[in-house]
Amino acid sequence: METLAILVAAGRGERMGAERPKAFLDLAGRPLLLRTALAFDASPTVGGIVAVVPAGLEGDARSMLAAVGKLRAVARGGMRRQDSVLEGLRHVPDDFDGVVLVHDAARPFVDADLIGAVAAAAGEYGAALPVLPLVDTVKRVRDGNVVETVDRDELGAAQTPQGFRFDVLGRAYEEAFRDGVTVTDEAMAVERLGERVVAVAGRSDNVKLTTPADWAWAESVLMAREGRA
Ligand code: CTP
Ligand code: MG
Repeated sequence: METLAILVAAGRGERMGAERPKAFLDLAGRPLLLRTALAFDASPTVGGIVAVVPAGLEGDARSMLAAVGKLRAVARGGMRRQDSVLEGLRHVPDDFDGVVLVHDAARPFVDADLIGAVAAAAGEYGAALPVLPLVDTVKRVRDGNVVETVDRDELGAAQTPQGFRFDVLGRAYEEAFRDGVTVTDEAMAVERLGERVVAVAGRSDNVKLTTPADWAWAESVLMAREGRA
């Protein structure tokens, strides 16, 4: 099924504490967004890429992504993540009947296997995302005190890319915006309609780079992998 990827990169990255938005910061020699875009460019599943960036940085993003052959458009993001996704969706043709993947630019370690697995499940079932089982025992904590040990068997951490048949995501988003609901990921918009969302195996290395410590870890991994350790 034809597949388009929306890379959301419009967040400020406040927890990184840098001047420039996170997606534009250098990560072991290449900006974060470029690394993530190249992973999608290299995936045989993906036919086109839309990058959503902070207002005012569209031109910078176009230059940064010049080597990304599948880039179709650069869009201006919004306040909330779902506002950024909506801006990206405006660049998908109305009659598109394939799969849309939404991915955090902040997860540069995504690979073609995971992209392919999510797109295939989304094409078949309508909606899919990678979920990583929790390995630690999970506690509910209130005011510094443990009040409960939560059964972790049914719990998992949601990752991206999240994939959807375009009509499914379009409908889910329309209803979320109509109802004034804020969703923290795209799958949540589909879940609230009671429609099927399939979990595929998440990857422990598909980390979302959030803090300077994550960044340092990622740089050491990339430098070793790219022979500059
Ligand atoms: N994102 C976006 N538009 C927003 C908010 C987030 O496109 N209004 C994107 C980010 O750019 C990021 C992804 O959603 O690639 C996941 O968000 P997160 O890791 O939380 O990034 P930031 O919101 O940028 O970081 P922070 O929360 O630390 O400020
Ligand atoms: Mg955020």
